[in-house]
Amino acid sequence: MIIAIDGPAASGKGNIARQLGGHFGYPHLDTGALYRAVGLAMLQENRNIDDSDAAAKVAENLPLELLDAAEIRTAEVGEAASKVAVHAAVRKALRGFQERFAGQSPGAVLDGRDIGTVICPHADVKLFITATVEIRATRRHKELLARGERIIYARVLADLKVRDQRDATRKEGPLRPADDAFQIDTSDLDIEAAVAAALTFITSQRT
Ligand code: C5P
Repeated sequence: MIIAIDGPAASGKGNIARQLGGHFGYPHLDTGALYRAVGLAMLQENRNIDDSDAAAKVAENLPLELLDAAEIRTAEVGEAASKVAVHAAVRKALRGFQERFAGQSPGAVLDGRDIGTVICPHADVKLFITATVEIRATRRHKELLARGERIIYARVLADLKVRDQRDATRKEGPLRPADDAFQIDTSDLDIEAAVAAALTFITSQRT
């Protein structure tokens, strides 16, 4: 069973994806980490983030060792990730890795922006996770502070708005719910309640 989970930054999709992976015993891929790894490698190499060819080359030789690096979680790398993610050639270069991951037996959970629409359009289950931008900014601000980053809430909120807009309006793989996605708004839900809602939906789909 392939579970495809999409949604904007800090909607809770990663956390839900991890828990569903644990519940079903499936591996989980945070596809945002792929774009973040490309963004970080571009920054480390002092490349122009808007250079589509350079970013595509990095994506073709995906720096797998960066996927677990703490540095990919900074606000700066999040911004760089969303900029490299605009390039069609980057998205194409990262596609095979995601499709192979999704093809594992007996199943896999992937979260991102275009999983239900582009990477796994035939996924058995599609979820789209949302929350108000203010609540997402509060969550992301807490996370960044906990990681030792010095950043104010207003800046996180402004950055998320810019990132949402860029992710939703790009030509290739824009952030949008698949027509058959089940939407969960986590604004007023804690993680347990959000996972319970997802499991109720998955169970109803399979019976
Ligand atoms: O999910 P996360 O915030 O870590 O993703 C960082 C950026 O990577 C997003 O803002 C988005 O632009 C890009 N991304 C994407 N497609 C995905 C996953 C992430 O374009 N499937």
